[in-house]
Amino acid sequence: MTAIREPVVIHKGLDNVYVKESKICFIDGDASKLFYRGYSIDELADHSTFEETAFLLIYGWLPTTSQLEGFTQKLDSYRPLEPEVLRLIQEFPEQSDPMDVLRTAVSALGLYDPQPMTDELKLRIDKAMRILAKVPTIITAFDRIRNHKVPIQPKGQLTQAAEFLYMLTGNEPDPYDSHVMDVALILHAEHEMNASTFACTVTASTLADMYSITTSGIGTLRGPLHGGANEAALRTVLEVGDPSRAENYVADALARKKRIMGFGHRVYKTWDPRYLILKKFAGELATRKGQSGLFDTAVAIETSARKHLEGTPIFPNVDSYSGIVFHMLGNQTDLFTPIFAMSRIAGWTAHAIEYLESNRLIRPKALYMGKTGLPYLPIESRTGRLEA
Ligand code: ACO
Repeated sequence: MTAIREPVVIHKGLDNVYVKESKICFIDGDASKLFYRGYSIDELADHSTFEETAFLLIYGWLPTTSQLEGFTQKLDSYRPLEPEVLRLIQEFPEQSDPMDVLRTAVSALGLYDPQPMTDELKLRIDKAMRILAKVPTIITAFDRIRNHKVPIQPKGQLTQAAEFLYMLTGNEPDPYDSHVMDVALILHAEHEMNASTFACTVTASTLADMYSITTSGIGTLRGPLHGGANEAALRTVLEVGDPSRAENYVADALARKKRIMGFGHRVYKTWDPRYLILKKFAGELATRKGQSGLFDTAVAIETSARKHLEGTPIFPNVDSYSGIVFHMLGNQTDLFTPIFAMSRIAGWTAHAIEYLESNRLIRPKALYMGKTGLPYLPIESRTGRLEA
């Protein structure tokens, strides 16, 4: 006997399914445009800071001077880790993936918040800021511990970007490096209803706390189909190794139906606007740091790929140069996705807060294709395999 089937449409991958109205982010994938709260990403990259952009995403408007000061002071005050959380990180296996460490440590932060559950908007924002501020401290503490170095306390009065680079190395970063890192954080802060933001929204819809919401996002970003393409794109550039080998690599990869990492996007069917900004910085960083070979190889891969993919909607995406930028800023490859998370928390929490303004529990359906009414067999009569 089979279950009665309703006439239904299955939206596998939820392609083109709208789950809420939103005023946070608009992507025009045909015109190569991205807006946060109505402001173009190009303008934000040119004029804003990550802190200001995070405020914009969470509150909905650009802050005044005093609002921005209050926001950054609060982030500063939240930045140090509770000793218990730091001790926990010290206990993790050194070979752990930093994304696993981040997921576990952010979850643990909730244990040291005396009131993790709240339905008050002000407190929800406060918890979002607490997580946002502590994530750079978590990532850098683990990176130093696994390299047998002592974690560095936040210096204070630095931007999220500069503080991250400072806690990573113990040296006050070059202002240009901090600026590039800051812009990279702005560019990764939000991208509408992607997989991790949806995961956060589902968790928020159950009225769970902000720590559970963010942990869901980190777990979802961890997968190679979402975060992680930046690492793969850099590995490709390192593997190709020289601009002269790019054409052969691309032709061979495409002939074998292999994807070129850092190319293609579900929404953008032309240039990803974030790619253009990061490419410029990657070129400048390469000159400054004497790593032109790396950049030239990436450009050669891009040129060959564009030639072979001409006539298709497959263009470079944000990840074609973000990995190179993070690499030249001194980050180990497995820190790229945690850095992505460090920025995207602004978007995740903004969407969770927005969804909770008119919450409805997210509870889709699965079309049952199995049997019903099977007789319960005693253990000695079972076949031990799936019956047709
Ligand atoms: N290189 C070569 N061919 C590609 C690429 C690529 N990077 N991307 C898509 N294609 C081809 C596919 O092989 C497929 O060809 P076919 O129809 O002949 O089989 C066609 O384009 C459509 O592919 P889909 O996977 O259906 O396209 P979609 O738009 O859903 O894919 C995705 C988007 C998953 C990002 C894809 O382009 C990809 O895998 N890119 C490489 C990984 C990457 O850079 N990811 C980062 C995305 S940005 C971000 O998440 C932050």
